[in-house]
Formats: sequence, C-alpha cells, structure tokens
Amino acid sequence: MVLESRPESMQRINTPALAKAYIDERIEMLREQIGDKKVLLALSGGVDSSVVAALLIRAIGKQLTCVHVNHGLLRKGEPEQVIRVFRDEMAANLIYVDATDRFLDKLAGVSDPEQKRKIIGGEFIDVFAEEARKLDGITFLGQGTIWPDILESERGIKAHHNAGGLPEDLQFELVEPVRILFKDEVREVGRALGLPESMVNRQPFPGPGLGVRCPGAITRDRLEAVREADAILREEFAAAGLAGKVWQYFTVVPDFKSTGIRDGKRVFEWACIIRAVNTTDAMSATVEEIPFALMQKLVSRITSEVKGVNRVLYDFTPKPCATIEYE
Ligand code: XMP
Repeated sequence: MVLESRPESMQRINTPALAKAYIDERIEMLREQIGDKKVLLALSGGVDSSVVAALLIRAIGKQLTCVHVNHGLLRKGEPEQVIRVFRDEMAANLIYVDATDRFLDKLAGVSDPEQKRKIIGGEFIDVFAEEARKLDGITFLGQGTIWPDILESERGIKAHHNAGGLPEDLQFELVEPVRILFKDEVREVGRALGLPESMVNRQPFPGPGLGVRCPGAITRDRLEAVREADAILREEFAAAGLAGKVWQYFTVVPDFKSTGIRDGKRVFEWACIIRAVNTTDAMSATVEEIPFALMQKLVSRITSEVKGVNRVLYDFTPKPCATIEYE
C-alpha cells in the first residue's frame, strides 16, 4: 500500500468551508477504502483520535468499533466526556474499559520513571489487544497519525507511534484519515464535525497521563490529589481567560511531604506544584507569568479543597534545563 503524503500545493485548512470540503472528500475516500469491512480504533479522547472517530462515524457508522481504555491516569471528567460525546451523542459503537485497578496494581511501588512509562505503555497494548481479540472480522485499524508525526519520524526526532506495538496475531491494515493534516487543521476539521470546543482545543496530554505527574511510586490518594488540583487549575485558567492562551498547564504532586497547620494542629502533607508553559514545538518552553491574584486564588482553593495538600509551589524553570513534564 502506498502511504499518503501531503501534497505540496495543499491549501491550509483554516476555515469551516475548507474543513467541510475536506470532510466530504475523506468520507468518500473512507467508504471506498473500507467498503463493508470493519474498523477498530483506540479512542483516547485526545484531539487526533477524537477527530478520526468522528470522521469514521460519519463515513461508516456502526462498522467502526471504538475502544476507550481508562488507565486510571486520565484527567477529571475525561472518560465521562468520551462516553457522552461518542456513545450518547454520536451513537458510536464504543467499548469502555475501566482498567484502573489493573494499571494501578502493576504500578504499585514502582518509582523509576522509565519503568513506570514501560508498564503503562505495555499494559495499554495488552488491554487493547484483549478487547481486539474479542471482536470478529476486524480488517482495519484507525489511527490518529498527523503530518508532523511523519515529518518528525523522518527527521529522527521521535519514533512515529504506529501499529508496530500490537502483537503478531493482530495485524491490521491502517486507516489514517488525518495523516496529511497539521494540528491546527485537525482542530478545524474537528470543529466542523461538531466536536465540543473543550475536546478540539485540548492542551497536549502525555500518553502515561497523570502517572508522570505523580513523581515517585503512584498511590491512589496522591493520584486523586493531582487529579483534583489539575481540575481546579483548569477551571481557574478558564475563568481567567487563559485556557486557550497558555500552551500547557498542569499540576504535579511529588512524593514529598512538609509540615503545615490545619485547624490549629500540625499536619504533614504534600506540596502541589503548578506548571504553566508556552512553546511552539515543545522542544523548548518559557514560563507563563501568572497574575499574582490568580496565584493566590489557586493556593487558597488547592490547599482547602484538595485532600492531603498543604502547600502550593510555582515552577519557574524554562525548558531547558527542565523538561515540561516531571518524568
Ligand atoms: P517534555 O516533558 O519532554 O514534554 O518536555 C514535551 C511535550 O511532550 C508531552 N509528552 C508526551 N506526550 N506521550 C505523549 O503523547 C508521552 O509519553 C509524553 N511525554 C511528554 C508533554 O506533555 C509536552 O507537551
């Protein structure tokens, strides 16, 4: 099979009309490629896989099966949003797998960052493969590959996340309907497909999820603290009009405690670190100047609403020498 490349003359898709033209053309192409066969898609809820799902639902409806694996490391409200948008609103064939216990049991006591990433990645493939084996007659695997993935793997910057990870008995033909698009174009197409703005404009979120924002061995209570603090941060950034402006912002709760006072008594609790950065390519990043009043509000809400956190810190370190994520 000849893999599709972005034509040099291709116009940037930056209007709803251009997005609609792309969608119409792709639907035709997808119907031709797939015929009456079946497609499987790992739907994370990120921009790329969500747009691929919405395109495939328009093109082939119930011939698509989406699998959403909740590894327990997603942000607050994310699995619920995937179910609401795809199963309830778009009537997709959606298999929801809550694999939280499986992931957290495997991760218990593991503090090495690379080991944690390996466990999360490996377990994800295992869970997805188990679901795939339960299904009959799947010919194609949908993938949210986008054009920068191809360019970066050609330049040797990062290995393209292709189907190579699946076991031998599960080899499918690929369907990559946003392969020739840049990220901003994927967002434009997603909007034209009716996906909610919170999904289309989602900030980057790493595959290992909150697992890399819980440095050290992950525990359920610290994971819950990072998830709650992240939800507060997102809410306050949205209220302050920063949501679409700051490239990436999140919280980190390391395995470290310090002394504090609560209700007149001594407590020994975690510190929550806030990170907010701007970048164009994630290779380097600068730190956002958060208004002091917003910072005070965040400190007040996080220390009063998040169980087990008595201190809030702001990370002023650019990339380099710090990376954006902590692990
Ligand atoms: P770092 O921490 O390397 O992150 O400065 C750069 C950007 O990449 C994101 N990131 C990941 N994205 N899988 C992903 O899909 C990953 O394993 C992963 N690790 C980091 C990070 O959030 C930032 O946007």
